[in-house]
Amino acid sequence: MENPFRPSAGATPPEILGRAGVLDEFEYGLRLGSGAPGLLTIFTGARGIGKTVMIGAAHDVAREHGWAVISETATAGFMGRIGESMRQLAEELGTGPVVRRITAVAAAGFSITTQLPPERQVAWRTLGQDLLTLLDKHGTGLVITVDEIHAADRGELAQLAASVQHFTQDRLPIGLVFAGLPAAVSDLLNEGVATFLRRADKIDLHAAAVREVEESFAHTFAEASFEVSPALVRRAAEATGGYPFLIQLVGYFLWREAEINQGTLTPESVERGIAAAHRRNARTVIEAALATVSPKDLDFLHAMAEDDGPSVAGDIGRRIGARTNLVANYRSRLLAAGLIEAAGHGKVGFAIPGLRQHLRAQTSD
Ligand SMILES: Nc1ncnc2c1ncn2[C@@H]1O[C@H](COP(=O)(O)OP(=O)(O)OP(=O)(O)O)[C@@H](O)[C@H]1O
Ligand SMILES: [Mg+2]
Repeated sequence: MENPFRPSAGATPPEILGRAGVLDEFEYGLRLGSGAPGLLTIFTGARGIGKTVMIGAAHDVAREHGWAVISETATAGFMGRIGESMRQLAEELGTGPVVRRITAVAAAGFSITTQLPPERQVAWRTLGQDLLTLLDKHGTGLVITVDEIHAADRGELAQLAASVQHFTQDRLPIGLVFAGLPAAVSDLLNEGVATFLRRADKIDLHAAAVREVEESFAHTFAEASFEVSPALVRRAAEATGGYPFLIQLVGYFLWREAEINQGTLTPESVERGIAAAHRRNARTVIEAALATVSPKDLDFLHAMAEDDGPSVAGDIGRRIGARTNLVANYRSRLLAAGLIEAAGHGKVGFAIPGLRQHLRAQTSD
C-alpha cells in the first residue's frame, strides 16, 4: 500500500474530514434546479483549511447529478475563459440549430486579458442563455466554480454576477460555487460589486475535530498493518490541531517513518514525523503568507506574537508605537490577507497554525 496522504494544495485527501453535511444544501439545489438557494454557495476559510478541496467535491457532486461543470480560478481573464468553456460544452452537446448559433456567437473568441468589452459581454450572455436552455431541456444545468475570488478583478466579478443573476431570473439552471479568504470575501460582498452574491450560502470552513483525525489515522495505519500504540496515534492527531493541511503533512511524514522502520512507529519516529510536518507547514503555508506582507504589517504580527492567546488592539498599538487608526489599517489588511482573524471583543488571533511559534523563532534568531 502506497502513502495515501496528500499534503499538496488542492489535492484530494484520502478522507475528507469534518465536512459532513457541508454540501447537502448544494446537492438539494441540484435537485430543485434554477433559483434554489444552495446553487449559490461561497466557501471561505483560512489558508490550507480545504476550500479548493470543497470546490472539487462540489464539482464531483454536480457531475454525479449529470450537470455540466466549468472550473476556474479568479485570475485575470476568467470571464473570457468561462466563455470559451461554454462554447466547448455546447459543441460537445451535439449539433442542431442552437449549437450552430452558439458557435457563431462565440466565433470571435473570448480569450482576452481582463474584463470583456461590451459587445463580447452581450455575446457571452447570449451564449450562456442558449447553452443553459439546451441543458435545461436535458433536465440538467451548469455549475460554474471559481476559486480564489479574493483575488478577482472587481469588474469581472461584477460581470459574472450580473449574468448569473440574469440567468436565474430567466429560470435557467445555473449554479455558482466560489471560494476565497474570509475577510477579503466579506469586503468584496460589502463593496457592493455584486449585491446579488450577498444572498449566497456562505460556508465558513473550520478545522476538523481532533477526535475525527485520530480515528482516521488509526484506521489508515491499521489498514497498512503498521504497528503503533493508540497513545501515539492520539499524539499525532493532536499535533494537527484538526487543521487539514497539517492532517495531510503529519499523516504523510508518519507514513514515511513507518516505511523506514519496517512498519513500526516508535515514540521517537512519531516525534520526528510531527517535527518534519510542522517544518514543512512553516516553509510552505507560513512563509508564502508572510512573503506578501509589508514590514509594518510584520511589526504588527510580531507584536501579536508576544501574547500567548488573542491580542487586544490597544496592546498591539502600544508595542509598535502606532495610533489607533493606523492599527486599524494594519488589522484590516492582515485580516484580508488571511493571516489573522477576529477573536471576539476587538481581539485578533492568528489564522494559520504555527504562525505564532514561527514569528517567535524569528525574533530569537
Ligand atoms: N476535509 C479535509 N480533510 C482532510 N484533509 C483535507 C481536507 N480538506 C483539505 N485537506 C488537505 O489539506 C490541504 C489543503 O487543502 P486545500 O488546498 O483545499 O486548502 P485551501 O483552503 O484551498 O488552501 P489555500 O488557501 O492555500 O488555497 C491539502 O493537502 C488537502 O488534501
Ligand atoms: Mg485553495
